[in-house]
Amino acid sequence: MARITASVYTSHVPAIGAAVDLGKTGEPYWQKVFAGYDFSKQWLKENRPDVVFLVYNDHATAFSLELIPTFAIGTAAEFKPADEGWGPRPVPVVKGHPQLASHIAQSVIQDDFDLTIVNRMDVDHGLTVPLSLMCGQVDEWPCPVIPFAVNVVQYPVPAGRRCFALGQAIRRAVESYDEPLKVQIWGTGGMSHQLQGSRAGLINREWDNAFLDRLIADPAGLSQMPHIDYVREAGSEGIELVMWLIARGAMADVAGGGKPRVAHRFYHVPASNTAVGHLILENA
Ligand code: DHB
Ligand code: FE
Repeated sequence: MARITASVYTSHVPAIGAAVDLGKTGEPYWQKVFAGYDFSKQWLKENRPDVVFLVYNDHATAFSLELIPTFAIGTAAEFKPADEGWGPRPVPVVKGHPQLASHIAQSVIQDDFDLTIVNRMDVDHGLTVPLSLMCGQVDEWPCPVIPFAVNVVQYPVPAGRRCFALGQAIRRAVESYDEPLKVQIWGTGGMSHQLQGSRAGLINREWDNAFLDRLIADPAGLSQMPHIDYVREAGSEGIELVMWLIARGAMADVAGGGKPRVAHRFYHVPASNTAVGHLILENA
């Protein structure tokens, strides 16, 4: 059977993608951000999964205001980097895993979560920047990736509680797949940031670090936090953090297994308008 070996959490700032693509990672401003991922790149090489299930949000790129799925699973064989206004990022095409994705769709929908099935979709910085942070500049991504898009852009957004329960359903789906695949689940977006309005530029270090503490030690309690608390404390775009609860809900301890090991933790301000947070949790 397939199993979830680890979860990875990271912010997804578009300017990070531009820094990689334009060869600026060594500049003093960016060096401090990328230093937090040196361990992670090595870790991923040593703990290479067969598939990454990548929870992210689309930023009105593939889905416009005409069509807004709350949860959407990419079942295609490949996903092209999206043109977000400056041409597509010069990064590899993302290869999917249609068999596992279809199985997860079947299992999770039968488990009462309504997923939108997406057979064609371009992927924006929400998905490609986490891959760049974890893999660096590569000719091919190290493994197939199943994109899982969550609406955190247009209200109403899903509650953290529901995201946490969805993660548990995804774990059950993976564990009922009849092939011994090692699957990592990544939760992306966040941390505190607000890109608009009178509070634009908001960062809340204390709240972010308490979120990281609770995500590790008390995810069920954290999942009860209402969305309005994210918006008030972490800014309008801080709501992206509910996606981390999907990945955390898929970890073994939530289903009665052992506590995960914290392989890596990093926090840095600023990167563009955002606080960058990053965690790697390994299942026992
Ligand atoms: C920024 C952060 C985001 O999460 C995003 O989607 C767009 C921009 C920023 O910090 O500039
Ligand atoms: Fe974003």
